[in-house]
Amino acid sequence: MLTARKPGIQINQAISQIVWSKDVEFAHIFNGVSVVVPYVEHLLNSVMNEVRTNYAADNPLLKEELDLFIRQETNHSIYHNRFNKLMLDAGYDIKPVMTKITAELKALRDKRSLAFISAYCAGFENTATFTAQYVFEACDEFFIGADPTGANLWLWHIAEEFEHRMTCHEAFKAVSGNYLMRIWGFAYSFWHINWSFWRATAVLLKKERESMTPAQLKASRRNHMRLMRRQFVYAIPRMLPLLRPGFNPAKLTVPPKIAAALEFFKKTDPINEAFTSVYPMAAE
Ligand SMILES: [Fe+2]
Ligand SMILES: [Fe+2]
Repeated sequence: MLTARKPGIQINQAISQIVWSKDVEFAHIFNGVSVVVPYVEHLLNSVMNEVRTNYAADNPLLKEELDLFIRQETNHSIYHNRFNKLMLDAGYDIKPVMTKITAELKALRDKRSLAFISAYCAGFENTATFTAQYVFEACDEFFIGADPTGANLWLWHIAEEFEHRMTCHEAFKAVSGNYLMRIWGFAYSFWHINWSFWRATAVLLKKERESMTPAQLKASRRNHMRLMRRQFVYAIPRMLPLLRPGFNPAKLTVPPKIAAALEFFKKTDPINEAFTSVYPMAAE
């Protein structure tokens, strides 16, 4: 069963927390996700709440899972909103992207069927599962010397994304379970949400690039593209099993590092070290 954690991640007004990785483009790829993700989580919770009310009355296990899922996603939003406020206060022009994604998600929620929108949610959660694997298994170099706040915000969030990888999939099955609908919802969410993340990252990097020389600007653009390619090359082959009609995310085993992170982030006392700097000792 899931655990809704409230880890002691210290988000304060220190501007140094924003570009938290030594790799500026890596930090802003994830900060761009942070800008958008509370609005996606609001949609997830609204849809899962409807499923809980109308499709889980005779399924106490699904109901309990949805209760905990909603609590986890609510906590994610609270922490990300705090982090996003840091970026707003520091002058990053992210408000227009926030307004745009809010309107787009509202239109989806208002106009589409529950079957489609729950497939959209399941698809987004599938992508988050493989992003968690990518960050925990292939990104150690970007966490070396990282500011613990931004690093832990992501490590905690995506560890819980891996933990609740089956919740929206099960919810979609309770609503529809139609294979073609699942694939359509996945494809649409993959395109729409990644595009939204891209738009937010572009705004953040634009501000960073104001003070760059032409050579630095060229290197920054090149690094951003390299990191995006790197992530897709890692994730896409691993995501292919999604296309199988019998795909079941519950069957993905929890990597030991994610299991250790899920333990580590139960800590509610102030956390002043990045999980990556204490792992594997944190697993002991
Ligand atoms: Fe989340
Ligand atoms: Fe999630």
